[in-house]
This record gives sequence, C-alpha cells and structure tokens, in this order.
Amino acid sequence: MITPAALADRLRLNSTSRVLEVGPGSGYFSLELARRVPEGRLQLLDLQPEMLAQAAQKFGGQLPGHVQSIAADACGPLPFDDASFDVVVLVTVLGELPCPKDGLASFYRVLRPGGMIAVHEQLPDPDIIWPARLGHLMTGAGFRPLGRQGPKWNYTALFEKPVSRGAEQSR
Ligand SMILES: C[S@@+](CC[C@H](N)C(=O)[O-])C[C@H]1O[C@@H](n2cnc3c(N)ncnc32)[C@H](O)[C@@H]1O
Repeated sequence: MITPAALADRLRLNSTSRVLEVGPGSGYFSLELARRVPEGRLQLLDLQPEMLAQAAQKFGGQLPGHVQSIAADACGPLPFDDASFDVVVLVTVLGELPCPKDGLASFYRVLRPGGMIAVHEQLPDPDIIWPARLGHLMTGAGFRPLGRQGPKWNYTALFEKPVSRGAEQSR
C-alpha cells in the first residue's frame, strides 16, 4: 500500500493545483492531497455519500475552504466545467467502474489541456488493472503516457491530456 505522502510526491502538485480525487473512499489520501494544494482546490467525488462522510471525519468533521465533496457517479456526467482541473487522481477506483471508457471521457473533459491524470493500482485489490491494459484504456481515451512508478502490482501511472488532441493523434 502506498502512503499518502508517497502518492502525493508523484503527482507534480504545486500549491495552487486544482485536483479532482475520484473515489476517495474514506479519505485515506485526501488529507495529504489537501495539504499539498493550500491555495488550490481539492474536489472529492464518490458514489457513496457515507464514504464522503468518513472522508470529512479525516478533516475533523469539517472540510477546509479549499476542499469540496460531492456524491456522484463517475459513470454519469460530471458536474464540473470543462478544463477546470489540473490533476485528476484515482487510487484503486478505475477497475471498479462499470464504464471505464465513459469515465475516462469525462475526466478528459474536465482536465485542462496539459493537465495530468494519475492512476494508482495495487494488489490485493481484486479489480486491479495491470499496466498494459491501463495503457490501452488511457491512450484510447486520448491521453498521452508520461511514465509509471512502482512495480506492476503496486504502481502509479501518469498520463497527460495533450494540449492539442489533433497533435496527439498525428504521432
Ligand atoms: C476501493 S475504494 C478506494 C478508496 C480510496 N481511493 C483508497 O484507495 O483508499 C473505491 C472507491 O471508489 C468509489 N466508486 C466506485 N464506483 C464509483 C463510481 N461509479 N463513481 C464514483 N465513485 C465510485 C467507491 O465508492 C469507493 O469509495
């Protein structure tokens, strides 16, 4: 299991980054992510309101001003503007989505051009997505690989939304 600090170190965050954490669950990573973007924004989105309530407890029961949470289905339309995030992060979530392609299309939409999506996968999660399959899914959705850290059973893979989709497709 990766620690919150180790994960956050991989995400190329700065203090003003606008981050969407999809499927934060009980908020194991959320506190550290919020700490890294004090002048930015952390948006938590999870299907289960009870998970978001647990995540809020990690913040002492009240979210700080730059952290918001919303209960929503990542398979449906996301209630965010186009290009409104610098970073999207999913830790052991993508494999749970019944609709990874729809989800990735939505994450693509809400990321700014040049923004980054980070996918962390690890055992013993039964829904683990192995790196090769993840690469296919992500490039199929228009993302460009930026590299992978960690062994294939416990890794973080980074992908970029190209500044121009046409430029990416002509490679
Ligand atoms: C395995 S947990 C991971 C929690 C957290 N990321 C972690 O690693 O500690 C998966 C999370 O994804 C959420 N999730 C599953 N399907 C979802 C969907 N369609 N839309 C939004 N969240 C979803 C679940 O509610 C759960 O909180």
